[in-house]
Amino acid sequence: MIISLIVAIAQNGVIGKSNGEMSWHVKEEFQHFKNTTLGFPIIMGRKTFETLGKPLKGRLNIVVSKNQSYKTLFDDVVVESSLDKAIEHCKNINSERIFIIGGGEIYRQAIAFVDEMIITFMKFQAEGEVKFPKINDGEWKRDKIKDHELFEIFRYLRKS
Ligand SMILES: NC(=O)c1ccc[n+]([C@@H]2O[C@H](COP(=O)([O-])OP(=O)(O)OC[C@H]3O[C@@H](n4cnc5c(N)ncnc54)[C@H](OP(=O)(O)O)[C@@H]3O)[C@@H](O)[C@H]2O)c1
Repeated sequence: MIISLIVAIAQNGVIGKSNGEMSWHVKEEFQHFKNTTLGFPIIMGRKTFETLGKPLKGRLNIVVSKNQSYKTLFDDVVVESSLDKAIEHCKNINSERIFIIGGGEIYRQAIAFVDEMIITFMKFQAEGEVKFPKINDGEWKRDKIKDHELFEIFRYLRKS
């Protein structure tokens, strides 16, 4: 099972606001996120899920919360109490690939073990307090996937 992380980062490292809001809305970037993740399980932190407000269609939505009694209003959303358990759940249903989709707290933990990162670098600075952790370039092989007026997308593959 390939464990991927997908994120969009502004030039100043910002990925979102501490009140949960997104710092920008770029339609083509959302489309890239949707096209890439469609059909695969997505794992996210409780705060990111609450920002979305509802599950993303066409993907198994798994939310992690340390609160053992946390529940969502949606029957099809899986809640797990740790990242390990969320990943185990995906292994048990024989997923070939999964995506860790944020937010900041989840990325800080996942960057240590994911196999691959699909990173959009926005070509502007953004307002917000939540940042992506530092990327150690030596650990990754990097290829450009796409260049757009407002962003460029890279695939980072962990060196074996
Ligand atoms: N630009 C992007 O690509 C992108 C993508 C996603 C999100 N975002 C942004 O990121 C921000 C949200 O990030 P955030 O850091 O505030 O919150 P977050 O990572 O979405 O969620 C944090 C919550 O996840 C749960 N959690 C964290 N680690 C856990 C673990 N090991 N086991 C079980 N549960 C765990 C905890 O929930 P409990 O408190 O319930 O225990 C914690 O409070 C928003 O601004 C959003 O817009 C940006």
